Amino acid sequence: MQKSGHHDHEWFEEWFDDTYLALYRHRNTEEARQLVRLLATRFSKEAANGVVDLACGAGRHSWTMTEEFGWRVVGLDLSPVMLNRARDHCPCPACPQFVRGDLRMLPFRANQFGLAVNLFTSFGYFEDEDENLTALHEMRRILLDSGTLIIDLMNPEHAIDTLVPIDKGFVGQLEVEQHRTFDRSAQRLKKRITIHYPNGQTRDVLESVRLFSPDEIESLLNAAGFSVIDKFGEYDGSQFKVGESQRMILVAGAKR
Ligand SMILES: C[S@@+](CC[C@H](N)C(=O)[O-])C[C@H]1O[C@@H](n2cnc3c(N)ncnc32)[C@H](O)[C@@H]1O
Repeated sequence: MQKSGHHDHEWFEEWFDDTYLALYRHRNTEEARQLVRLLATRFSKEAANGVVDLACGAGRHSWTMTEEFGWRVVGLDLSPVMLNRARDHCPCPACPQFVRGDLRMLPFRANQFGLAVNLFTSFGYFEDEDENLTALHEMRRILLDSGTLIIDLMNPEHAIDTLVPIDKGFVGQLEVEQHRTFDRSAQRLKKRITIHYPNGQTRDVLESVRLFSPDEIESLLNAAGFSVIDKFGEYDGSQFKVGESQRMILVAGAKR
């Protein structure tokens, strides 16, 4: 597997496990359903040609796309823990296929899907900007020429304006402390999470995610063979507003 930086393990190779799922359990199927229903109002034609859920996590969007709309869905993720959860807890009679892979080197043939989705801040993890671009090139490669990519990022302005520097509390039995900073020179939102387990063990995780301005992400998408067609600001489909929206959900059409 390709690596960026000089670390043996990147934070995103290790963090997405049972503890992550416990901390983010409020990010549930209900939220996923809202976004998928929005996609269904606009992109069912593309979806009919096959959907790939890139960085699908524990499968909440893949499940809804399959169960509610009957789309043919493949979910891809790097984390075996998330993939096992996606397979084991799938509520659908015929479940999506879940495969392990890396966004930088997708294990799919060219021109295979009508719709690719990358949801809930699953992009911008690589320290090396070229690798973020490589991932977008890969997304373009596997899409049909008539295909569409949906990429769901934090709205940078909103994320910076509402940043909570420290919070502490319990999530179930886990005592969790989170320190957040915005590294302006790297344009990265960094979150140090310290987790105290009931058995006395402690774990430290450093999340680091690149925030992209609307112009930056648009030019990366252009460079990878996409053009931005639309931007939503919330999962209910509201239009993107620079200073206000929580999310920046880009609809990018494949360029021929
Ligand atoms: C914030 S979670 C979002 C998961 C899912 N989209 C959701 O909304 O529940 C980010 C996901 O990206 C996956 N991921 C991180 N780096 C990846 C990579 N290089 N290739 C594929 N998946 C990756 C993680 O394992 C994790 O499941």
